[in-house]
Amino acid sequence: MTAKNRQIAVIGAGLMGHGIALTLARAGQYVALTDPFPEARTSAPARIRSSMSAMGLSEAEIARALKRIEIFDTTAGAVRAAEVVFEAAPEKLDLKRKIFAEIEAHAPEACILASNTSVMPITEIMANLRLKARALGTHWWNPPHLIPLVEVVKTEWTEASVAADMMDLLSDAGKTPVLVAKDVPGFIGNRLQHALWREAISLVENGICDAEAVDTVIKASFGRRLAVLGPLENADLVGTDLTLDIHENVLFDLESRKGPSPYLKQLVSDGKLGMKTGEGFRKWTDVQANDVRLRVARHLKRLDGILMD
Ligand SMILES: NC(=O)c1ccc[n+]([C@@H]2O[C@H](COP(=O)([O-])OP(=O)(O)OC[C@H]3O[C@@H](n4cnc5c(N)ncnc54)[C@H](O)[C@@H]3O)[C@@H](O)[C@H]2O)c1
Repeated sequence: MTAKNRQIAVIGAGLMGHGIALTLARAGQYVALTDPFPEARTSAPARIRSSMSAMGLSEAEIARALKRIEIFDTTAGAVRAAEVVFEAAPEKLDLKRKIFAEIEAHAPEACILASNTSVMPITEIMANLRLKARALGTHWWNPPHLIPLVEVVKTEWTEASVAADMMDLLSDAGKTPVLVAKDVPGFIGNRLQHALWREAISLVENGICDAEAVDTVIKASFGRRLAVLGPLENADLVGTDLTLDIHENVLFDLESRKGPSPYLKQLVSDGKLGMKTGEGFRKWTDVQANDVRLRVARHLKRLDGILMD
């Protein structure tokens, strides 16, 4: 069990940073939140309030969490007394390296350093640190205050006790941490997710069905089970022998190209960037796009607090 009242620093007060900050503050930790942009700093408390209120939390709970979050103008100030730092700055390797160099210059030597990169190798981000044994990845999912999973990614240098301490801190904050023993691209979740997306795009590209059909098939079938039955539990449920028979008959025909699909590249070069431009794989009005966002938020809120065994 992790201690309460630990000093946490969160670097970057954007979409992920504000959610990470509120999650840890709710769990009884002190959070120093920083961002170089004044607008991000001044709007952070209101964004935290609004996310907590959308979670259905009481005014008292919101006030209690906000009291535990202090906004700092500089990274140096935010990390000076930190025991754990979460970096949630933009996804650029040079920027993250620069930020960690600055953190290392100002944080205590025992402080654990974590990057929230979505896909960049933790090894590359941390390569220039003097004390690499205390560095790791913590891949929170969006929205970080609602999605339970955090992938805790070890590099070849990360000390086991550092990963264990991080797992305890996250469990105590109500998260579901999973240890990723090797620093591979996409960690676990995004490898699985994008194996599915590659096949989904290929089905449309090859004229087997349209994009709406792909989404309907998933939402109306195995998507319903996925939140309570993982694929390997499912394989054991139906039998590894049946799984082997299916793989003998289908794997040879699945998409296996190494790079992105030409169909996807064409959409991007045609400016069909999805909901933000009104068309991607499908056409979207603003109302339809908003309905999708509301549907996801409602669903995540309903699942929040449902314990997994
Ligand atoms: N958005 C997602 O779905 C998601 C999911 C998982 C992981 N991530 C990762 O989390 C990180 C943050 O993503 P986000 O979606 O919160 O982005 P964001 O743009 O919402 O927030 C990034 C914040 O970092 C600030 N920033 C810019 N330069 C900085 C600097 N030098 N030092 C500190 N802060 C700086 C920005 O002002 C901004 O407020 C990225 O690495 C991203 O890949 C994002």
